[in-house]
Amino acid sequence: MIDNTIKDVAREIVSATTKVVALTGAGISAESGIPTFRDKGGLWEKYDPMEFAHISSFKAHPEKSWKMLLELIEPLNKAKPNPGHLGLAELEKMGILTTIITQNIDGLHQEAGNTDVIEFHGNNRYVVCLSCGKRYKFNEISIETLPPKCECSGILKPDAVFFGEPIPSHALNRAYEVSGNCKAMLVVGTSAVVYPAASMPEFAKTKGAIIIEINPEKTPLTLKISDYFVKGSAGEIIPLIVKEVKNLIN
Ligand code: OAD
Repeated sequence: MIDNTIKDVAREIVSATTKVVALTGAGISAESGIPTFRDKGGLWEKYDPMEFAHISSFKAHPEKSWKMLLELIEPLNKAKPNPGHLGLAELEKMGILTTIITQNIDGLHQEAGNTDVIEFHGNNRYVVCLSCGKRYKFNEISIETLPPKCECSGILKPDAVFFGEPIPSHALNRAYEVSGNCKAMLVVGTSAVVYPAASMPEFAKTKGAIIIEINPEKTPLTLKISDYFVKGSAGEIIPLIVKEVKNLIN
């Protein structure tokens, strides 16, 4: 049954060549050792996001949020792209997939080789001063005393989007543009509950795109929006799709 779904999905993306995009979430990096947010044992089980990841709580108690962030840095720094990331990079090399919209801040799609990655929720490579707006590379700042400070004494915040903050406008605009123009969207490893990221498949669908979801669990999109639901992990399913795509185009 899953074999037939994979064959169908491969046919869909080959026929949508150059008009295929992907929306990814924490699940695609789970097999790289980075915990997701809402699965069992996920980050939001341990930390209340409103207390640690809301911009108001960051401004009130930046050292508290920084402690949580430093706990994440180790798995983030150690992580390497897994077969899910590498499969999406291969689809780009084949000229099929053009763009990835990712909610992840880990940079693993770029490391895998994808060249057009929209970082919808920012990234973990930079920090930004809340007072003067100066940006620093994360590895250039001292984190011996928390919170780290700018040369203007302002508080530094990771360049990732916190709850209560807007999505960077260039990322939001491009995400709508590519979602509105695609013919097929792969939705991989996201619970699809955080907006506006979760509205991209909905928007793509209203513009006529085929939605292909890859996830071990169903999501709010599964029955409502997705044309195909391929149950399984990204690291297992994406290489199977890539293999089938190669059979079709060679
Ligand atoms: P979630 O933790 O909400 O969802 C992870 C999804 O990945 C779930 O649907 C899992 O079933 C699925 N999953 C788990 N392991 C997987 C695997 N090996 N392969 C494929 N899928 C797998 O993470 P996101 O949807 O990314 O935002 O969360 C969205 C946003 O909520 C994040 O960007 C972050 C968070 O709060 C902010 O902090 C602003």
